[in-house]
Amino acid sequence: MASENVSWTEEQKLAIEFKGNNMLVSAAAGAGKTFVLVEKVIQHILAGEEPCDIERLLVVTFTEKAALEMKERIRTALEKARAKNPYDPQIPRQIKE
Ligand SMILES: Nc1ncnc2c1ncn2[C@@H]1O[C@H](COP(=O)(O)OP(=O)(O)OP(=O)(O)O)[C@@H](O)[C@H]1O
Ligand SMILES: [Mg+2]
Repeated sequence: MASENVSWTEEQKLAIEFKGNNMLVSAAAGAGKTFVLVEKVIQHILAGEEPCDIERLLVVTFTEKAALEMKERIRTALEKARAKNPYDPQIPRQIKE
């Protein structure tokens, strides 16, 4: 989806594909936790039968720095998706210019 050329690890794939309500992601520093969570957000808003607008998601982080990092990564992923799918009306609506 957002990162079509990525070789996800098996654990990352499990975390991305998990559809339950409660999920705890625990992994070493730099293991790709934020990377996985950004992909989950992108899949929520762009994939599946019921895409949901980004405005309907609440993402809470421990620090403002982490929130800013996630915001920037989600924006970059959305911009990549928009470049790949220029006629998809769902994508531009998610990017606040
Ligand atoms: N499967 C993968 N393939 C390629 N790059 C990956 C993969 N998983 C993670 N990365 C890259 O590894 C780096 C670290 O990932 P990320 O920042 O998501 O880790 P993190 O677990 O959130 O780190 P931290 O504990 O510091 O918050 C990023 O540059 C990310 O793009
Ligand atoms: Mg992180």
